[in-house]
Amino acid sequence: MKDLTPNGIALRISFLMAAVLTLLVFVLDTYNGNSNLLILAVFPVSFIASYIGFRIAVERFIYKKIKVIYRTIHNLKLKKVDDSKEFSLAQIQTEVEDWDKLNKEEIGRLKGLESYRREYVGNLSHELKTPIFNIQGYLLTLLEGGLHDPNINVSYLEKASNSVDRMISLIENLDDISKLESGMIEMDIKKVDLVKLVKEVVGALEMQAQNNDVKLKFVDEPSKPVWVSIDESGINQVLVNLIVNSIKYGKEENGETLIKLFDMDENVLVEVADNGTGIAEHHLSRLFERFYRIDKSRARTSGGTGLGLSIVKHIIEAHNQTINVRSTPEVGSTFSFTLKKA
Ligand SMILES: Nc1ncnc2c1ncn2[C@@H]1O[C@H](COP(=O)(O)OP(=O)(O)OP(=O)(O)O)[C@@H](O)[C@H]1O
Ligand SMILES: [Mg+2]
Repeated sequence: MKDLTPNGIALRISFLMAAVLTLLVFVLDTYNGNSNLLILAVFPVSFIASYIGFRIAVERFIYKKIKVIYRTIHNLKLKKVDDSKEFSLAQIQTEVEDWDKLNKEEIGRLKGLESYRREYVGNLSHELKTPIFNIQGYLLTLLEGGLHDPNINVSYLEKASNSVDRMISLIENLDDISKLESGMIEMDIKKVDLVKLVKEVVGALEMQAQNNDVKLKFVDEPSKPVWVSIDESGINQVLVNLIVNSIKYGKEENGETLIKLFDMDENVLVEVADNGTGIAEHHLSRLFERFYRIDKSRARTSGGTGLGLSIVKHIIEAHNQTINVRSTPEVGSTFSFTLKKA
C-alpha cells in the first residue's frame, strides 16, 4: 500500500464501495423475495460513479497539499506566484526537480568557495609567518647584545629589512590580485607598439639577467612597430614577471632567455622561452594558481611569493586572451600568450 497513486487509491476504494453496495442490494432483494435483474447493473454503475468521485476528491486533496509546497519553492526561487493560476502535478514535479538541481549546484559552488577560502587563509598566514619570525629573530639577537657586535649588527638589520621587503611585495601582489579579481582595475586599453614595450622591459632587466649569468635576447626583432590593443602597464608587468621567472629559474651557467613575436592573423603571439630548470608535467596545470611554487626553498631564497604567474594570468584574461606553458625538465620552459592587434 506504500506507493499508491491517486488512481490506485480511487480504484481500490471504488471497488470496495461497489462490492458493499451490490451485496447490500442483493441481501435486501433476497429479503424482500425479489429477484431483480437490475442488480447486475448495480456493481458497474456504482463502481464507475464512485471511481470518478473518489478520483477527483483524491486529486484535489493531494493538489491542495502540494500547492503549498509548490508555492514555497516558487517563493524561494523568488518568482512571483499567480494565485489564480492552476498547475498540473507534472508541472509541479518538473519545478521541484529544477529547484533541486539549482540547490545542488549552489551548494557545490559554496563548498568550492569555502575550501578555496580555507586554503587561501592557510597559505597567506604561512607565507607571512616566515618573514615575521625572521624579523623577530634578527631583532631579538640585536637587542640581546648583537647591536654592539660589528660582525652582525649591519647584516642582521639588512636581513630584517629584506624580510620586510618580502612582506611588502606579498601584500602588494595580493592587493593586485584582489583588485584584478573584483574588476576594480579597469584595463586601460590603448594602441601600443609591442616592439618598443618589449625592448624597454628587456633593457630594464638586462642587469638582473647579467648578474644571474642569463642572456636576454629579443629574437628577430621586427624593424617596424607591431601595434597591439593593450593595457600597457598590465602587459609590462606580464613581461617583467615572465622574464624575471626565466632568470630566477634559469640555468645556473650560460642561461638564455629568448623573446619572440609571431604574427597570427588577428593576434600577435608573444613567447618567453628559457633553457632553465624546466617544470615537470604534473605541475603544469596548477602553475598559475596563487601561491603555487615548485621548489619552495629555492623560490623562497629568491624572494618568490608564488603569486607572479597568477597575476600574469589575470592580466591576460582581462584582455580576453590566453596564456600557455610548455616545459621539459632540465631543458627549459616556454610561456606564450596572445595579444590582439590594433
Ligand atoms: N621559467 C620557469 N622555469 C621553471 N620554473 C618556473 C618558471 N616560471 C615559474 N616557475 C615555477 O612556478 C612557480 C610559480 O611562479 P610564480 O611566478 O607564480 O611565483 P614565484 O616566482 O615563486 O614568486 P613571485 O613571482 O611572486 O616572485 C615558481 O615558484 C617556480 O617554481
Ligand atoms: Mg615569479
